[in-house]
This record gives sequence, structure tokens and C-alpha cells, in this order.
Amino acid sequence: MIKSLFNAVSISFFLVLSSFSLASEKAIIDPSARFHPLVSDRGMVVSQEMLASQVGADILARGGNAVDAAVATGFALAVTLPRAGNLGGGGFMLVHLAAENKTVAIDYREMAPASASRDMFLDAEGDVDNKKARYSMQSSGVPGTVAGLLHALDSYGTMSLKQVLQPAIELAANGFKVSMDLSSSLQARQQTMHKNPASKEYFYKADGAGYEYGETLVQKHLAATLQRIAKKGRSGFYQGKTAQLIVAEMQRSGGLISHKDLTSYRVIERTPVCGDYRGNSVCAMPPPSSGGVHMLQMLNILEGWDLASLGHNSAAYIHRLVESMRRAYADRSSYLGDPDYFPVPVAELTDKQYATELREQINLAKSSRSADIRPGLDNRSAGKESTETTHFSTWDRWGNVVSNTYTLNFSYGSGISVTGAGFLLNNEMDDFSAKPGSPNGYGLVGGIANAIEPGKRPLSSMTPTIVFDKSGAPILATGSPGGSTIITIVMQMLLNIIDFDMNVAEATAAPRIHHQWLPDRVFYEAGVSADTLQVLREMGHQLNDKTSRLGATQSIQSDSDGAMFYGTADYRREGSGVAIPIK
Ligand code: DON
Repeated sequence: MIKSLFNAVSISFFLVLSSFSLASEKAIIDPSARFHPLVSDRGMVVSQEMLASQVGADILARGGNAVDAAVATGFALAVTLPRAGNLGGGGFMLVHLAAENKTVAIDYREMAPASASRDMFLDAEGDVDNKKARYSMQSSGVPGTVAGLLHALDSYGTMSLKQVLQPAIELAANGFKVSMDLSSSLQARQQTMHKNPASKEYFYKADGAGYEYGETLVQKHLAATLQRIAKKGRSGFYQGKTAQLIVAEMQRSGGLISHKDLTSYRVIERTPVCGDYRGNSVCAMPPPSSGGVHMLQMLNILEGWDLASLGHNSAAYIHRLVESMRRAYADRSSYLGDPDYFPVPVAELTDKQYATELREQINLAKSSRSADIRPGLDNRSAGKESTETTHFSTWDRWGNVVSNTYTLNFSYGSGISVTGAGFLLNNEMDDFSAKPGSPNGYGLVGGIANAIEPGKRPLSSMTPTIVFDKSGAPILATGSPGGSTIITIVMQMLLNIIDFDMNVAEATAAPRIHHQWLPDRVFYEAGVSADTLQVLREMGHQLNDKTSRLGATQSIQSDSDGAMFYGTADYRREGSGVAIPIK
């Protein structure tokens, strides 16, 4: 059955290739599979943009490993998905190395410049100036993407930097056909982007109009920046001409990033945070992401119930999810930050006994109020904006796996491009807590743990994840954009697969819900039944007044023997795709 499905999918989607400028003979792509995954026995790349997936699959076809493919995909997304793919942002990469049976977490999150300070976004009245935090030159942390991708390639890749950068350089220099998604997202961001002359020049036509679907976008300055990286490696970005262009841009308009900030940018390899969930080992990003810690905390709470017997997205099930989410996000507001600046109680938060205590507080018949829930460790002995991030997963036939989420924070970051260098800057400084209790762009509140300090990394929710089965074999790589909602989205992917036995496509398609303590509101996607919503209301839950669309997971699942791969690109973002090498 799976075999015949595979043939049907392969043949029909092979034709899709002809409509792309970067035609490839080595990759099959499947745009946004719905209820069936694309199947392959040769490795796979899944990302939010089809051309970039194809670039990664071509690298696999040429003998590259999952890390080579991931780095090539990451650089290609910086060209073809400029709202989230980036050189000017940062992110996290989880790498599972089959030969050593080891998983590492590469932290290439942005760092606050040395001259950043705790109150830098407060106005004369002591209130947060959101415009300054989100859309100014000071919104940017020191970019980590280039250093991160290069670190991954140097440490765990097999190909040269030139080989993995070449496809991105060609896409930027020769141009590519603008997708529906690129056309409409640029249109949506036009007002902000037009305020910055460089962004206007790079992403709109000479008369200022947006690119239509099918028109060609050429990015000469970006191609030149990528060339400098290909030639000089890390110093092609953090020193020399690119660095000069970044610093000049900062100095023109009150930005803080200096040459010293750029040369002292540091990639950090961390140990992933791993925990057991119903016999599977779940490994995800540790702080400065809050993702891994709180996903494990919620899974620990939920493990105490037989979720499958409640029925998927029944009111009883959603109630348990919401109450677990409420408690985890309350803890996030107090205990999570950059571990190099604040002692994050990872062991306490992911402790099964702590989860049991939280579970026992949950009334199974009635919703609690967030106003009554405080960060939980205090009781023990211890201690709307348009948004865009993007996830991609790669898997090779030797069993190496990459799960990567990176971002500019908002869609197209701060909207400010570096003149002459062709790329957008992040607005990640808004992920700090600019003032205790004041919500950031995702409604998240924080305090001292996530206060701004020089050199510190803003707290993130990005949750690249790899799941291993009882025998220790990797069986799933997944992750998502979605700001504060990322953690609960990724967790629901895991629950759908582990508790409800869905395949990766069904798990992706299933309607999602979200709660984050504050605001005290249940967000839900279309497809949660009206009856269920009514029961939840009767239990006292406050439901959002309209449906949301939550995240965009890009996932690969595998059998325990690692012989087959099943990939699903999330249909929630148009243009995403699975690509497999066919050589
Ligand atoms: O690191 C974070 O948590 C945020 N900067 C992520 C932003 C994001 O996911 C936007 N995407 N929809």
C-alpha cells in the first residue's frame, strides 16, 4: 500500500519540478503533503520552501550527509524564504550522529551587543517602547546564523563550504521565481519594509511595487555576501566588507552592534535536554530555549493519564493539555533565561515528581484561572504581530539526523536590511523581557531571568526535537515556527504520533490548540468540534473568539531500523515541501 502510494506521489510531483527555475534531476519534491507522507529509502529534506528542500536533497544525492544538506538548505532559505530564512538572525540545530550514537545541540542564538542595557527599551515614563524594541536598529541582536551553520559544517559535515553554498549563491545571483507565499508575505509587510530604503530596494521592484507570483527575484548584494562567506568562511561575514557594512548601518541609525560584537560572537555546543516519554527518549533544545524544558515538563504531567483512551481532541483531552500548558508557561515566566547568566533549574522543572505534584493540582472537571497559578517551584523548596520563524529537518541514509529552527523573530525581522549586504536584520532583542511583567511580541512575560544584559541571549521558544524509540533509534525529527506557540505545537506532534498512533502526515494535519498561562485564553484551530468547544466553555475555559492557525511543522519520521523515511511539510504555510534524492 505504501509502495503504490509512493509511486503515485513520485510521478505526480516530479512534474512539479519543471515549473521551477532551479530544475534538478536529482530530487523529487512533494509540496505540502496532506494525509500521506512522502516515502523514501534514501534520505530526505523537509523545509518551508520547496526550492530550498530541493537544494538539500541534491546535496544528499551527491553523497553529502544530513549536516551538509542542512547547511545547504539553511543558506538556500536565506535566499528563497527571506521572511524567516536568514543570515541576519539566529537559531538552534540538533544533530544526531549515527556513528557515535550522540546528539548535540548547537546554539547559534543572537547575543545582545556589549552596549545593550536592561532598560534600553523603556521610555521616559518607564514603559516599554515597543517600536524601539521591534522595528529599530536597536532591535537586533548580534547575528549567529552564519557562525552556527559554519560550525555545524566544520564539525559534522563532509563537504566543502563552497559546495554547500553554491546553490544559494546561484539562487541569489540568477534569481528564482517568486512563489505565492513570497509575493503575499512581502505585500503584507510592505508598509514596514518601505520605510527602509535598502529593504525597499532588495525586495520590491524599482517602482516600489511588490513582486507578483512567477516574477523573478534577483538578489545581487546577497549573492556577493554569500560569495564572501564561501571564500573566507566565518570572517567573510563577521569581519571584512560584510562586517563593515553592518557596522556602518548601525552607526547611521543608532544601532549598537560593533566590530567587537561581531568578532566575539560565539557558537555554543550544548547537551540537549532529554527525557523519557512512554518509553521513548525525547531530546530537544536546552536553555536559552525554553522549548525542551517545558515540552518535557508538560509531557511528564500528561504521562500520568491514559490520553489515548480520552480520544484525540476530546474536551477531556484538551482540558488536560491546557492545564499542563498553563502551569509550564507560568514557570517559564520566572525561571527561564540564558543559562550563562541565570541559574535555570532544568533538573527541577523536568523532574517527574514535580510533574506529579502539578498533575495532582489539576481539577479534571473544571478549568483553573491563570490568575491563581503562580510559578510552581516557588511553592517547593527551590527557588499581535505577524510572525515568522522556520524549521527544517534532514535525514541521511546513514542515520544522521538534523532538526533545525532559525529565525529573524518577526516576519522579515525588523524590516531593516543592511545596505550593500542584501540581508535583513533580526528583531530578536524583543524576545528579552524589556520590563518585568510587560508582554513581548508574543504576549510572553518575564522577569530578571530574561532581562537584557550585554552578551546575553534572549530566551527563545524554538524547539527543534528528535525522538528516539526504546532501542535508541531516531524515529522522528520535527520543529515549528510560531513564537510562544512553538512548544505546544511540537508537543502535540509527539502526542499525535506516540499516543494516538498517527502517521506523520496525520499528526501534522490534526487541529492544534494552545495556551500560554497569560493571556488566560485557549487558542484553537479550525476543526476542533463545536461540541468540544462547548464542553470546554462549560468547564470554565476562556476560548479565543476566533480560530488561529498554529505553526508549520516540517517533519521526518523513520522506522526503527532506519530503512524508510516518511516526510511531511506542513500545509499551513504555502510553498513548503519534502524533497528526496533520487540518484
Ligand atoms: O525565539 C523565539 O522564540 C522567537 N523569536 C520565535 C519567533 C517565531 O517563531 C516567529 N514565527 N512564527
